[in-house]
Amino acid sequence: MTHPVLSALGLSGNESGTYLGNGEWSKTSDAGILEPINPTDGTVLAKVQASSKADYDTIVKRAEAAFKVWRTTPAPRRGEAIRLCAEALRENKDALGSLVALEMGKSKPEGDGEVQEMIDIGEFAVGLSRQLYGLTMHSERPGHRMYEQWHPLGLVGIISAFNFPVAVWAWNAFVAGVCGDICIWKPSPKTPLSAIASMKICNEALKKGGFPDIFFLFNDGGTELAQHFVDDKRIALVSFTGSTRVGRTVGERVARRMGRSLLELGGNNAMIVDQSADLKLAIPAIVFGAVGTAGQRCTSTRRAFIHEAIYDDVLAKLVGAYKQVEGKIGDPTDPANLMGPLNSSDAVDAYLDAIEAAKAAGGTIETGGAKIDRAGNFVLPTIVTGLDNDAEIVQHETFAPILYVMKFSKLDEALALQNAVPQGLSSAIFTESLKAAEAFLSAAGSDCGIANVNIGTSGAEIGGAFGGEKETGGGRESGSDAWKAYMRRQTNTINYSDALPLAQGIKFDL
Ligand code: UN1
Repeated sequence: MTHPVLSALGLSGNESGTYLGNGEWSKTSDAGILEPINPTDGTVLAKVQASSKADYDTIVKRAEAAFKVWRTTPAPRRGEAIRLCAEALRENKDALGSLVALEMGKSKPEGDGEVQEMIDIGEFAVGLSRQLYGLTMHSERPGHRMYEQWHPLGLVGIISAFNFPVAVWAWNAFVAGVCGDICIWKPSPKTPLSAIASMKICNEALKKGGFPDIFFLFNDGGTELAQHFVDDKRIALVSFTGSTRVGRTVGERVARRMGRSLLELGGNNAMIVDQSADLKLAIPAIVFGAVGTAGQRCTSTRRAFIHEAIYDDVLAKLVGAYKQVEGKIGDPTDPANLMGPLNSSDAVDAYLDAIEAAKAAGGTIETGGAKIDRAGNFVLPTIVTGLDNDAEIVQHETFAPILYVMKFSKLDEALALQNAVPQGLSSAIFTESLKAAEAFLSAAGSDCGIANVNIGTSGAEIGGAFGGEKETGGGRESGSDAWKAYMRRQTNTINYSDALPLAQGIKFDL
C-alpha cells in the first residue's frame, strides 16, 4: 500500500525518477531502480525508476534549448516564475514537510522548516531578480564609459545530499532561476521521493503560469551517470553538497574541464562556552546543534569547548538535557518527537564505529553510545569526554549525534583548538564578554564561513551566504551575493569620443 504521506502529494508506489521537460516523465524502466527506505521501520517506501543515458541526453538537449529562451527573458519576469514556485510550496508545505520527515527521518517541525527555507529563498530570489547589480567604474580615458554586467551562465547541475533533500536544491535552483540559468538536479539516491514531489509542485506552478521548463531531474541507478554529469562540458556549474571525499573528486573533475564548481562539503563545527556564558542559551543551543536532525546537518555541533570553571556544571546539565531528548525519540512524522532515526543503516554503522573508535582512543561515553533496540535506524544521542581535539575520531566528521566535549582554560587556546580541524563550516561562541565575542569574530578568530555569537552552529538563515572554508570546499550559496556564482561577469568599456586613446597612456602612432 502506498504510504498516505506519498498519496497526499499524488505520488504512487512506482515513480519515474526523470523529468524530461514538456510535462513528460520518462518511461525508462531498464536503468535500475532506487528503493528509498523508510528509516523509521526499514520498509521500502516506493520504487523509483532510474534514468538512462538517453534520458540524460534528452534533458541536456532540452535544457540547452530552454536556456536560449530563458537567458533573454527579463530577470524580473524570471522572478515571477520563482514567485509562483514559492507560492505553490507554501500551499504544499505541510504535505512536503511530512514527506521530508518520512523519507529523510528528520522531525516533522524540521521537515516543515526545510520547506520554509525553500519558500524563503524563493521570495529572496524574487527580490533579487530586480537587483542583479553590476558596478560602474570611472574610465581613465576621456570620452569612455566603463561598467560591468552579469549575464546568465548556462546549465547548472545540482547534486544534493539526503540530509537536506529539498532546501539545498531550492537555494541553488531558485537563485539560478532568476539569474537566467536552467537547472538539472540529481538528488541523493536515498531521498528521490522528496525531489520528485518538489519538481512536481514547482513544474506544475511554472506550467500554470505559462513559463517554460527551467528545472529538470534525473536519478542515477549507480554512479556512472553522475560521473558523466560532472564531466559534461555542457554543464557550466556543478553545485555539489555532500562529503569531502566525494566533493574533492567532483572539484578535481570539474576543474579539469575548466568548469565551475560550488562545493558545500563536511563540517566539524565547534561551540565555545566561556566562563561568562548565559547557560540558559548555551545548553539548548548545544543540544539542538548536536541532536537536531540526529546530528545529520553539515552545520551540526560536533565539538564543544567548555571553560574549566563551568565544565562540570555544563556537562551535568547537558547529560540531563540528553536524557530528556531520549524520551522524545521516535517516528519523525509525529510532531511530538524531537529526534528521528538516522537516515540509513550505513549511518548507524558509522555511528557505532565512531563510538568504538572514541572508546579505543580513551574517551568516556557520558550518555548514549548505543543503537536503540527497535526497528529502524534509531540511535542514542551521545556525549563523549576525555578525548583531545587532535584525536583522529574528533578530527573526523561522523554524520551522527555524537558530541565531543572538551575543557579549556584560556580563550586563545579554545580558538586555536576550534580552528585545528581540516573543515571550516560553522562555529559559535557563547559569552557575555564583548572582548571575547569580538576576538572570536576577528581576523585572528574563527576561521569558518559561519561564526555566531550566542546562537548555535546550525540553522543558518537563507539571507546570508552559506558555506565554509578549507575542506568544506569554499563554496557560498543562498543569500547575500552568492548569486554571482550563477552568472558570468562581463566588463564593458565604451568609447564615445572621436579618438582612440590607449589605456596606461601607451602610444602606438601609425
Ligand atoms: C546542510 O546541512 O547541508 O544551517 C545545510 C543549517 C541549515 C542548512 C544546512 N539551514 O543548518
